[in-house]
Amino acid sequence: MKITTPIKLTAIALAAIFGLALAAAADTAQLPPAPTKTGVTYATDIKPVFDQSCVKCHSGEKPKAKLKLDNLENALKGSKDGKVVIPGNSAKSPLVLNVAHLSNDKDTWMPPPHNKANIGPLTPEQIGLIRAWIDQGAK
Ligand code: HEC
Repeated sequence: MKITTPIKLTAIALAAIFGLALAAAADTAQLPPAPTKTGVTYATDIKPVFDQSCVKCHSGEKPKAKLKLDNLENALKGSKDGKVVIPGNSAKSPLVLNVAHLSNDKDTWMPPPHNKANIGPLTPEQIGLIRAWIDQGAK
């Protein structure tokens, strides 16, 4: 008994950690793939997407979540909660998870579903482009 209990607990802990790792991997696999296109930048590729689908709420005097997406500097600065773009790591960037609807919590989905401005969700191609931009260093 003295020996088996810790072993059991270790097994349970390992199973839990392994399960979490698998869940995280599965989540990332749900993301649209980044295109092979190189030289993706905010100015040429991302600004048109953000202008169309995000800046209505994320710019100006009172940006939602204190997040401005109207220029590169502001996008990299992040929100009231911190960075939403992690250069080099699109799969860990909150902004990507928000637009890809990876969380079951619909409050985190961007643009918010059924918003008054009637701005629809991003396409998988647009999300892929954002991923490429971030993975290539968010320049
Ligand atoms: C109709 C308004 C609206 C539009 C359009 C919109 N957002 Fe948001 N966004 C919000 C609101 C409101 C919140 C705060 C949600 C909360 O805190 O529950 C938010 C929060 C966020 C956050 C989380 C910030 C944080 O750290 O808390 C990110 C990232 C984000 N939006 C990105 C985007 C992107 C990218 C787009 C365009 C593809 C977009 N949003 C379009 C209203 C909008």
